[in-house]
Amino acid sequence: MIAAVIGGGTMGAGIAHLLLAGGHDVTVAEAGADRAEVALGAVRRSLGKAAGRGRLAAPPEELLTRLVVVDDLAALPPAAELVVEAVPERVDLKRTVLGQAASVCPTAVLASNTSSLSITELAEGLPGDRLVGMHFFNPVPVQELVELVHHAGVAPEVVARVRGWAEALGKTVIEVRDSPGFATSRLGVAVGMEAIRMLEEGVAAAEDVDTGMRLGYGWPMGPLRLTDLVGLDVRLAIAEHLAAELGPRFEPPALLRDKVARGELGRKSGQGFFTW
Ligand code: CAA
Repeated sequence: MIAAVIGGGTMGAGIAHLLLAGGHDVTVAEAGADRAEVALGAVRRSLGKAAGRGRLAAPPEELLTRLVVVDDLAALPPAAELVVEAVPERVDLKRTVLGQAASVCPTAVLASNTSSLSITELAEGLPGDRLVGMHFFNPVPVQELVELVHHAGVAPEVVARVRGWAEALGKTVIEVRDSPGFATSRLGVAVGMEAIRMLEEGVAAAEDVDTGMRLGYGWPMGPLRLTDLVGLDVRLAIAEHLAAELGPRFEPPALLRDKVARGELGRKSGQGFFTW
């Protein structure tokens, strides 16, 4: 398949890695030459880690021959069958890039990796019949799930094609109706926010809250370390969106707002609920 990924950050680079490993031709589009260079480095690093664990069927250099990184959406391949956008969680930005992709790639399925924004809203002004939510999880090559989110206007054959591609890439698909936070972010954020409120109330230290869920519930990492991995700013934005859509039970805790205001964004800034 000819595929494209818009945005080469953590998620976009992971999706590109997955598609390359699945044998597809991949174009990654980033805004500007510097960011394109960073994106290429991120895909290369991710492939290197997988190779180091014996998880790649071919050497990274061989897979990278099927990767093109461009710094302009006009350079997306017109024959692309699938375009996945993984740009920051802003409706206006996502609509803009999906609109450009829709005209440059006239027959492509358009997929948004959004973790909580409304697919129905994103579809406005686009050829909505070919838009779905295709929500991957961090780290993309490792996490087994793809959450396939559909809205009322999507063509059933588009949903079926996306399911087929995801399953061929080794993922398990759950289908979810477009609703705030879908099935996964809604629950993941609920637990994450409650863990932060427990810290505020002095119920237990961060390490102990996390150890409780790791050893008691079998989570691979606790909810606070996971919030650090995802990014406190990302989780705050999702919680604010869910509070607006679903009500005050998703109101973000003051501690989360304070940390984001101080620039403590988790692993990427070196400090979150833990020091990295
Ligand atoms: N390809 C590429 N990278 C790989 C890899 C592979 N096949 N296998 C492992 N890695 C990476 C890991 O991501 C990790 O990267 P960093 O160096 O950047 O930390 C590194 O190699 C070490 O991996 P290990 O296997 O040694 O580490 P681990 O056993 O501790 O596993 C983990 C790491 C997979 C992240 C595990 O802790 C885990 O599953 N954590 C939970 C992750 C989770 O819940 N993700 C969902 C987040 S929510 C989300 O993504 C949705 C959203 O919309 C916000």
